[in-house]
Amino acid sequence: MNIAILGFGTVGTGVYKIIKKANRQTKDLHVKYILIRKNKPETMPEMTDNIDQIVKDDSVDVVVEVIGGIEPAHQYILSALRHKKSVITANKAVIAKYMDEFTNVARENNAKFYFESSVGGGIPWIQGLERALRIDDVDKIQGIFNGTSNYILDRMKKDKKSFDEVLLNAQQLGYAEADPSADIDGYDVANKLCISADIAYNTFISPDDNLPVFGIRNISYEDLVAFGKKNLTVKLLGKSDFHDGKFDYAVEPTLCAATSMEANTPDNFNLISLHGNTVGDLKFMGQGAGQLPTANAVIQDILDILQNKAHLERDFNSGFEYVPNLMKSDYVVRSEMDIRNIFAEYQVEMHGDYFEIKDVPTGEMHQLMAIVLKQDGQAFMASYPKEAREVDSDESSEVRWEFSR
Ligand code: HSE
Repeated sequence: MNIAILGFGTVGTGVYKIIKKANRQTKDLHVKYILIRKNKPETMPEMTDNIDQIVKDDSVDVVVEVIGGIEPAHQYILSALRHKKSVITANKAVIAKYMDEFTNVARENNAKFYFESSVGGGIPWIQGLERALRIDDVDKIQGIFNGTSNYILDRMKKDKKSFDEVLLNAQQLGYAEADPSADIDGYDVANKLCISADIAYNTFISPDDNLPVFGIRNISYEDLVAFGKKNLTVKLLGKSDFHDGKFDYAVEPTLCAATSMEANTPDNFNLISLHGNTVGDLKFMGQGAGQLPTANAVIQDILDILQNKAHLERDFNSGFEYVPNLMKSDYVVRSEMDIRNIFAEYQVEMHGDYFEIKDVPTGEMHQLMAIVLKQDGQAFMASYPKEAREVDSDESSEVRWEFSR
């Protein structure tokens, strides 16, 4: 099987390395081309800067797109599919934006479009979700979808290092995006949750749909300590619930009980969960970012094509609808300002440097928080769900109920 790899950064290099170290299963994979940017030196015989040469070569079976970003990745994927080549991509941003178009063009051209590595790195999450859907309706997806932000939150707390220092380590380890704001501000999670929701609900939700997304840019070491005093660990979660043909959607820092699996997900690991009506809760854990885990998932897709293993089909016409504000939660906000007038409709308690706001619909919370941020650019919020609170029922320690920095 002849493969072209578009892009030779972290993931592209990993795919090449694993294929070169062939085993019994991968020995028939052959990298024929590596597309590099114009004006870059062609240091290997497989390298070319000519995408047409690749898509017009009838001997190429599979195109692996790992350039990242929207354009030209979008056009290259369409061009490869239209030339009847199967496409595998790890590029979350482009899939989330064009999932419906890629799926349709692949179907019209009898080609495969697979993207296991795009969500959860090396974790077989897409495969697990599709497998659950063969039998079940999935009515909940929730989890840690971003390795970089998880690494930052975990290492800041354990190593007592600053946000910037830990982010630099994540970049050096090849976890962070070229522009790490996607990791820090929640947009990478948003893309991965869109992809997961597209599959789970067989409907297309675009990351351009003004979805509630709040990241970890403003978190401080003192916040982690304050939450720790309450036996809570903050994690950046993607969440979606489904009821009666409607689903909601949010990306937000969330306080998790220190004993929960989420709180104990370390380093660059992801932990993604689903709930199905017969299977119940399933949790998938593994390295969500990094060269070889991500490349491993790309090669799993290549082997599925080689071995003719079909994935779940979808047409995105379930008619299910995204409805903000289906979910409600308590929230904790840290702000220099007195924010009680902004949340006048809700019950607000002050705890030291923090405000605890009760029972706020998620979409509404994100809108009100945008108002807070206009006046206090350093403010931080986290959802404080009931599950996290129930564990903390130890009345003996008053200090644990007091958020203070
Ligand atoms: N930057 C991403 C992350 C890479 O940290 O999760 C994997 O998608």
